[in-house]
Amino acid sequence: MRVGVLTGGGDCPGLNAVIRGVVRKGVQEYGHDFVGFRDGWRGPLEGDTVRLDIPAVRGILPRGGTILGSSRTNPLKMEDGIRRIKDNLAKQEVEALIAIGGEDTLGVAARLSDEYGVPCVGVPKTIDNDLSATDYTFGFDTAVGIATEAIDRLHTTAESHMRVLVVEVMGRHAGWIAVHSGLAGGANVILIPEHRFDIEQVCAWVTSRFKASYAPIVVVAEGAMPKDGDVVLKDGSLDSFGHVRLSGVGEWLAKEIEKRTGKEARTTVLGHVQRGGTPSAFDRWLATRFGLHAIDAVHERDFGKMVALRGTDIVRVPIADATSRLKTVDPELYAEVGVFFG
Ligand code: F6P
Repeated sequence: MRVGVLTGGGDCPGLNAVIRGVVRKGVQEYGHDFVGFRDGWRGPLEGDTVRLDIPAVRGILPRGGTILGSSRTNPLKMEDGIRRIKDNLAKQEVEALIAIGGEDTLGVAARLSDEYGVPCVGVPKTIDNDLSATDYTFGFDTAVGIATEAIDRLHTTAESHMRVLVVEVMGRHAGWIAVHSGLAGGANVILIPEHRFDIEQVCAWVTSRFKASYAPIVVVAEGAMPKDGDVVLKDGSLDSFGHVRLSGVGEWLAKEIEKRTGKEARTTVLGHVQRGGTPSAFDRWLATRFGLHAIDAVHERDFGKMVALRGTDIVRVPIADATSRLKTVDPELYAEVGVFFG
């Protein structure tokens, strides 16, 4: 069988490990051959391909990013997008497509598979960990590790100057990175998109931390919102899935905290550092296993499915299940970490 592979959406550590797992098992065990599509859905849309064989995947396991490139191209918004994809797959004699992506990329794969008869298998990825149907997505563990290291470092500089340090992490709709890294790094305030925050309460926590002679670290997810406000936007621009560019809530918070408490505050925005570079051992392990199971699903022609982690098992679920609902931080979990606030 000739199998197409693409990586779409924001890149994340572990994408190359999936590609390597797919190709190694696909060639060695099943005798399939592969074609890589460049830059997410742009590849099949424009027929832009790259060679994908065993030499092409040699040495890529620890490499961040994706050898296939990525984009947020949405073929459902393009004129004739579906027909162009079908034509290009036929031209390349591709019989099945493995789509590695998050909510948006997999949303397209689900529709292509369920409504348009394009045989797809999905692999979930996102540093945000907000896809339902899987316990974890790869990339998340690496991002949490990077954010935790940053928080550790910020504690010592905050305390030397007795300042507030606000750390803005990624997390558009879900505060998983904020909660995990904030807990692991000993943050004094953690703010997430799922729970609107009260700036007065944040300032009260900051003040109580100073009273105990320590400098506070405030971890905020980029999508967090004040009780009586809206998300802070980078600018008004939208990507082709209609998402606005976030980032700015950290700066906003530092200014408000300074104004309301009289304490000096600084902001560190971790941004794409959380997405770049080598994947953690856990992410390599998860991504590789996802790759091995994805090619099994293709081989068995079990299309319209996505591989998912349940406990320590890799299972298959309908792609549509993973994209119909976001996995957000449970209020009980958020309440649990609240014992460390202030
Ligand atoms: O992929 C998810 C994510 O990292 C979000 O946390 C963030 O809001 C977004 O991507 C940033 O996207 P871009 O790199 O396209 O600005």
